[in-house]
Amino acid sequence: MSEFSSRILNWYDRHARVLPWRGHPDAYAVWVSEIMLQQTRVETVIPYFERWMRQFPTVGALAEAPEQVVLSAWEGLGYYSRARNLHKAARIVVSDHNGQLPGDLIQLRKLPGIGRYTAAAIASIAFGQDIATLDGNLKRVFARVFDVSAPADGPAGEEILWALAEKHVPPGRAGDYNQALMDLGATVCLPKNPFCLLCPLAELCKARALGVQDERPMMKPKAPVPHKLKAAAVLVADGKTLLKQRPAEGLLGGLWEFPSAEVDADSPEALAAAIETEYRLRVNPMARMDEVRHAYTHFKLTEIPWRCELIHIPEDSLLKWVEITELLQYPMGKVDRAIAKKIEKSGK
Ligand code: ADE
Repeated sequence: MSEFSSRILNWYDRHARVLPWRGHPDAYAVWVSEIMLQQTRVETVIPYFERWMRQFPTVGALAEAPEQVVLSAWEGLGYYSRARNLHKAARIVVSDHNGQLPGDLIQLRKLPGIGRYTAAAIASIAFGQDIATLDGNLKRVFARVFDVSAPADGPAGEEILWALAEKHVPPGRAGDYNQALMDLGATVCLPKNPFCLLCPLAELCKARALGVQDERPMMKPKAPVPHKLKAAAVLVADGKTLLKQRPAEGLLGGLWEFPSAEVDADSPEALAAAIETEYRLRVNPMARMDEVRHAYTHFKLTEIPWRCELIHIPEDSLLKWVEITELLQYPMGKVDRAIAKKIEKSGK
């Protein structure tokens, strides 16, 4: 075993975080945790994970649940394709694998939502295989300890970093090794102001020796994030409000929202025109509500909800009148949930 691996395992034996999916013999629990932990912090994931395992304790229970229920359980975690893929994959595991998640990398990677990182994490953590993995935290640790200057989000840098991760796998303890590096990246080897004085790898760390730890990992230059302006029509009548379900695929797929459209100005005329074009729905905007902002991965959104009067609704419409008291049963993204809360609060 290399010096690198023995140091990191030693550190893990003393400092491993106590997390609800650890020491779980259940591959399904490891799988759920790894999907939730993609792009989401451990502290945010813990309560979702615990609720999820109570609500869907087995692959079979998840496979049987309706998609609306699954999306509702995921609500607030974001990146909803993760939930839709997990659900689809659970159905495949039941139909093709007898309800048992396969331990084999190739089989795992065939399942929706399981890529190179997740397959390797599951194979090592849940099935004890000697397989390395690499996520953002691990990239940072390897880029610093071995002073990798190629961009960590480009193919050359990724190849170097995967090779380093593979080279140091300690036979028999790959799951601990992978999780040790995740913990180190999340608690010590931080993106900004890393706690090098607490780091078990500090004496090996080339970036530290050169004083370039703040410049590792290198990343490709990023295009600026565009800003979108949307307006939403809030229509309320007889204790009901008008919602629409988003298409199954794509951003926030399958979630519900208030009828909304991109606008080029923060004005009632812009809203009325855009809503008519998008839905053939004719409304009269009456009162502007407070705007809601949210940062998605690829753009920033400001959405302005308007209380509207209904002029005309098309007959064949995909719009649905929903009881205000039942709004919680309709899974929504953060922006629409914020609007829904305002309506619930005012009760009309
Ligand atoms: N991030 C992703 N997977 C993780 C795990 N198993 N433990 C801690 N952090 C993680």
